[in-house]
Amino acid sequence: MLYIGIDLGTSAVKLLLVDEKGAIINEVSKEYPVYFPHSGWSEQNPEDWITAVNEGLAELLADCDKSAVKGIGCGGQMHGLVVLDENDEVIRPAILWNDGRTHKEVKYLNNVIGKDVLSENTANIAFAGFTAPKILWMKNNEPDLFDRISKIMLPKDYINYFLTGVHSCDYSDASGMLLLDVKNKCWSKKMLEICGVTEKQLACLYESYEVTGKIKPEISEKFGLSPDIVVVAGAGDNAAAAIGTGTIGNGNCNISIGTSGTVFISSNEFGVDNNNALHSFAHADGGYHLMGCMLSAASCNKWFMDDILCNKDYNGVQSLINEEKLGRNEVYFLPYLMGERSPVNDTNARGTFIGMSLATKKEDMLQAVLEGVAFAIRDSFEIAKSLGIDIKTSNICGGGVKSKLWQKIFANVLGIPLNILKTEQGPGYGGAILAMVACNEYDSVEDACKNLAQISETVYPDKDLTNRYEIKYNKFRKIYPALKNTFADMITEE
Ligand code: XUL
Repeated sequence: MLYIGIDLGTSAVKLLLVDEKGAIINEVSKEYPVYFPHSGWSEQNPEDWITAVNEGLAELLADCDKSAVKGIGCGGQMHGLVVLDENDEVIRPAILWNDGRTHKEVKYLNNVIGKDVLSENTANIAFAGFTAPKILWMKNNEPDLFDRISKIMLPKDYINYFLTGVHSCDYSDASGMLLLDVKNKCWSKKMLEICGVTEKQLACLYESYEVTGKIKPEISEKFGLSPDIVVVAGAGDNAAAAIGTGTIGNGNCNISIGTSGTVFISSNEFGVDNNNALHSFAHADGGYHLMGCMLSAASCNKWFMDDILCNKDYNGVQSLINEEKLGRNEVYFLPYLMGERSPVNDTNARGTFIGMSLATKKEDMLQAVLEGVAFAIRDSFEIAKSLGIDIKTSNICGGGVKSKLWQKIFANVLGIPLNILKTEQGPGYGGAILAMVACNEYDSVEDACKNLAQISETVYPDKDLTNRYEIKYNKFRKIYPALKNTFADMITEE
């Protein structure tokens, strides 16, 4: 049997064709643009996602036995606001998870409505990228468009709607809307009232591994697929990646280094960080998780290579970094290119190099970029530590950590062994696993993960290097507090 896993990412959609034993039969990636209409804003056209999925599916299925395909599961970028009118036409470009335009709405929600009210009703407080502040932004800034909203959807749910015609949403992704009562897994009446929307405008809620529908007749005809192929509700990309890396149950951790960088700690029980610095969300295995999210992770490397050095030879430039210099770099980088979410929650923060001299070379700056991302991930680890969560080891996935050098930096900055999985396509692989569970290939998500998520290699920290990075990290953590007010001044000066 064959299963399709879709990862609707920020830079591209990645499609996987996987058999029931977890072997990857084919994979295809299709890119689309991100638009930055103002500094700190970030949008995409949902039509571009559909074009990419259409082209990707055709390529993915070109040489396979189509009658063997049984199910589809999608993981996708979280929090994005997709709004449809009464004919299910897209009203405006999607406002993405890393868009920082909602600082006024976030202030209103956290300070006027109050963090305690938000936390009581949703288990979370407002962050600029979450969906509820975006709905309020539309209400305040685009009232005519706001009045036309018939359905509010998340990015991967729009793909599922395209495939099935059903408006669905799963609990893991719904958690990031700030509209879900995460503990009780239902829409929060209080939050809907605050945002001026009704339950009818939201999708139906499902567990990630539940079937929401079959593919539409026109999809089955277009791709020559059986009309009986089922689509599962799927998951937010981080929960899907956690499934793909087998990060389920109590106290297990996955780090994902994609456009964003996340630390994901799974749990069977619902729990909240009392300071709400980590998000408290539902997991795709039916449980829950705590998560820290930095907005620019692998994207910092991509930006520095593509836009600053104008060099596509990522490995070539990384090979200039002398490993003797790890933990000894005098240059530091704050990776806040799109502001930052966890833990500083500051839309004004920006990327910053500090510590350069006439001796600084491009490889020192690249090293600072790679280290700055690892230090910022460590910030979320420190929050978890302060909650009494002791992370002794973690899985790690995402495009960023294909680099051996970066893997080594992460293991030593965090001071723990990191597991690299045999199948590194976290969210797409997780989506396919969810579809397999729905089609009874496995008894449960746990059973599927046990069989399918296999570690290929563990990267161990080195004591000396970990000690050197400890000193560097303690210097890194002083940079943002010293610049916080300057960042705010620079933004208001405009
Ligand atoms: C998680 C988050 C990001 C996006 C990236 O809260 O905002 O990880 O899901 O796709």
